[in-house]
Amino acid sequence: MQVTIKVFRYNPEKDKKPHYETYQLEADPTDRVLDLLEKVKGYKDGTLSFRRSCAHGVCGSDAMRINGSNKLACKALVHDFGAKITVEPILGLRVIKDLIVDMEPFFDNFRKVLPYFINDDPAPEKERYQSQEDRERFDDTTKCILCAACTTSCPSFWASDEYLGPSAIVNAHRFIFDSRDQGAAQRLKIMNEIMGVSRCHTVFNCTLACPREIQITKAIGEVKKALMTGSLE
Ligand code: SF4
Ligand code: F3S
Ligand code: FES
Repeated sequence: MQVTIKVFRYNPEKDKKPHYETYQLEADPTDRVLDLLEKVKGYKDGTLSFRRSCAHGVCGSDAMRINGSNKLACKALVHDFGAKITVEPILGLRVIKDLIVDMEPFFDNFRKVLPYFINDDPAPEKERYQSQEDRERFDDTTKCILCAACTTSCPSFWASDEYLGPSAIVNAHRFIFDSRDQGAAQRLKIMNEIMGVSRCHTVFNCTLACPREIQITKAIGEVKKALMTGSLE
């Protein structure tokens, strides 16, 4: 099939403002949007810039807006979008060049939630025991690949990148509800700050955008409930 792909282009070193370039490509319906971008870069315009690494939905580096919705380009198939595809950078973060945005504010928020295991007890001889039931408590939020599709689809984050955002809260949830971890009180204090969970107005864009199908709004709700009740039950 013939596909017309319209791509956001912006090189701050040369361009006064962003513009779009349109390319005609021969594509297979099962090609991925990432394949189309590779074709443009390889055969039409080598200056096109975008991030990608694994090309298999694992590294989280190629989140972009495809026909208006946040997707991973390596998981977005042409037949789901049709013959006219528009590709733009994710919103709420500064564009460095073309489809590449500055991820630092996103990772700053990630770092704020202490996204690592905290337990000062002496390490046991073998593993720290955890029941299957306790492990399941945070099974969903372990799946995050830090792609930022959720956070950059959230109107509260568009309003201020100081808002921790759904991804950081998901990663806080992963440790808050881990029965082996001892940092829940510290993290809940961070969640309760002015730019924490109270900025979430249950818009659900994050849940719809997540390529890992994490129930993000539910996880945020669980963090809010833990703050209100003082219990992790
Ligand atoms: Fe990406 Fe989902 Fe993680 Fe958000 S929660 S960063 S959308 S994988
Ligand atoms: Fe934003 Fe998701 Fe809440 S889109 S407002 S974090 S439910
Ligand atoms: Fe790694 Fe798409 S390139 S998730």
